[in-house]
Amino acid sequence: MGSAMSDTAVEVDGLRKAFGTVLALDGLSFRVPAGSVLGLLGPNGSGKTTTVSILSTALRPDAGRATIGGLDVVADAARVRRVIGFAGQFAAVDPNLTGRENLTLIGRLSRLGRARARVRAGELLGSFGLTAAADRLVRTYSGGMRRRLDLAAALLHRPPVLFLDEPTTGLDPESRFALWDSVRDLSLSGTTVLLTTQYLEEADTLADQVVIIAAGKVAGTGTPAQLKARHGTVLFDLGFAGPSIAETACSVLAAGGYQPDRDGAGVRVRSAAGSAALTGVLRALEGRAPDPVSVAVREPTLDDVFRSLTEGEG
Ligand SMILES: Nc1ncnc2c1ncn2[C@@H]1O[C@H](COP(=O)(O)OP(=O)(O)OP(=O)(O)O)[C@@H](O)[C@H]1O
Ligand SMILES: [Mg+2]
Repeated sequence: MGSAMSDTAVEVDGLRKAFGTVLALDGLSFRVPAGSVLGLLGPNGSGKTTTVSILSTALRPDAGRATIGGLDVVADAARVRRVIGFAGQFAAVDPNLTGRENLTLIGRLSRLGRARARVRAGELLGSFGLTAAADRLVRTYSGGMRRRLDLAAALLHRPPVLFLDEPTTGLDPESRFALWDSVRDLSLSGTTVLLTTQYLEEADTLADQVVIIAAGKVAGTGTPAQLKARHGTVLFDLGFAGPSIAETACSVLAAGGYQPDRDGAGVRVRSAAGSAALTGVLRALEGRAPDPVSVAVREPTLDDVFRSLTEGEG
């Protein structure tokens, strides 16, 4: 790898892409340090697949620029394709070939050579737990097995940069954990991974850095820990006897300088000062609203962060 790869593996700068009147990307910028895992997190239609399609040279941006290891995805598309692996949102493997045939074919298409393609296919089938099913037609595979085969196909030519578009959508928990293990192994061996996901838990477990996108723009960025810390270190979930009581409690807390969110009969209060702030919250309510019927203290999840960042969007 060239020296450009040694610090920034992927650089996205002001990408714009419209489909007719739909603005899918509206000036998207972020970078992925080499060897790290970036989680691109966003709701349906936020531009995740569009971003990954541009980065994997399947789609041209209207404006802005993206480079992989210093290579421009438009001007150097052919060279970019040699350093990336890509597994799309929908499995690209051929259902009428066996798993082994699929991998061998892809290996030969990527100019690996017949013998090396066969060896590499065998290795990957092994590492993705597909050896027993290797010589069955893919159309007899389960969804999780297809996903794993798709991932194996993306890794065939040992790409230094790997794009995975919602790799675990539709997988059962066991297959999801297996895929997480594969991503971790790849990352440990130095592969740069950009994965899109709607699962906050997934970004939280896998990603070194998270970019949250909403409506084609960056809505927030940081490590999972930073995003959680920025959002408050602790959340108090107060349950009340009914929505109207919760509404009263909410007004009381707002008047007391807190920033409560009500959801039905529940009120959520963020604390940047740890769980010790709970006594202050309860004291603020005392005599001004009925006592909560339940009180829970918990750490914010990326879900909480995501919701607050994308509130009012779309
Ligand atoms: N080929 C296309 N033609 C027209 N509109 C498109 C096309 N591809 C994407 N879009 C639109 O661009 C926006 C972004 O789509 P994109 O597929 O990038 O979202 P996403 O974040 O991947 O969503 P999901 O979570 O559902 O996969 C959406 O409004 C979508 O309808
Ligand atoms: Mg998508």
